[in-house]
Amino acid sequence: MRKKRVLSGMQASGKLHLGNLVGALENWKAMQEEYECFYFIADWHALSTNYEDTGEIASNRFEIAVDWLATGIDPEKSIIFVQSQIPEHAVLHLFLSMIVPVPWLERNPTYKEKMDNIKNKDLATYGFLGYPVLQAADIALYKADLVPVGMDQLPHLELTRELVRRFNNIYKCKVLKEPDAKIAQVSKLKGTDGRKMSKSYNNAIFLGDERKTIEKKIKGMLTDTKRARRDDPGEPDDCNLFPLHTIYTSSEEREEICKGCRSAGIGCGDCKATLLKNLLPALEPIQEKRRELLEQPKKIEEILSAGSKKAQKVAAATLDEVKTAMKIA
Ligand code: TRP
Ligand code: SF4
Repeated sequence: MRKKRVLSGMQASGKLHLGNLVGALENWKAMQEEYECFYFIADWHALSTNYEDTGEIASNRFEIAVDWLATGIDPEKSIIFVQSQIPEHAVLHLFLSMIVPVPWLERNPTYKEKMDNIKNKDLATYGFLGYPVLQAADIALYKADLVPVGMDQLPHLELTRELVRRFNNIYKCKVLKEPDAKIAQVSKLKGTDGRKMSKSYNNAIFLGDERKTIEKKIKGMLTDTKRARRDDPGEPDDCNLFPLHTIYTSSEEREEICKGCRSAGIGCGDCKATLLKNLLPALEPIQEKRRELLEQPKKIEEILSAGSKKAQKVAAATLDEVKTAMKIA
């Protein structure tokens, strides 16, 4: 039996942080053992919000590739590629843009939310509205079975499925495949200020942060507000730090922490020291690998272009079928 095909992408919008590692990369890495995996850097998607200021897209692409390789996304096991190296993405996006009803795009919750929240950029463009159409093209070109994504991407996946059905209906074919979303079951990491960890909130711990920086960020992290004083008991479930312990601290040590927190037997400083003791060694191999890779930019570019070549074969074959179905071959 053929292995199921997995495809996922990340927008080229900056260095990766612990939230990306735990929320996506660990999961991607595990999937390499069981599935045929395609992982790509969505650099064209980054244009949707940065079309006026494109200066960082290329360096972000490089940084992301380094972070992926350092965490064990392996070019021997997976096809790692760059969206902009495969023009087929743009062509299928064009065809899908012809059939997508505009109201489907206008009612997309991610679109509405970003339009409401991002005020310093003009996002009244087609590219921004059509973001999920390009994403649907990314997925459909590879006939992916499974798309590992976070919860926030579910509306985009649903739209992909609807668009695939619409294409197959209109052109009376079975060329495109409806993908399933695969949501990783992980605890959501909080940033240093207690909000969701995100590059744009400026509260993230990056994979590439120096040891000293990580120490400073963890020490400055907001904890359960009930523990205003050292003798006030707290509740780990109400603490922003605790999700990190669920990942990096053994269950025995975690039990101790919970008891100590609830009885005020330990202070938050002790608890943070325990976390650092566990977190820093866990990150060390990734950071070591990062340092090595950063010195080999040529090798990184070679990996990406070799991956893009392989991916393009698949994309081109699908696009041929698409054109035949549309009778414009
Ligand atoms: N929109 C995704 C995100 O912001 C990135 C992305 C682009 C993607 N194309 C994709 C994810 C295709 C999965 C499949 O995270
Ligand atoms: Fe959070 Fe630990 Fe402080 Fe409890 S002791 S509030 S878990 S940092």
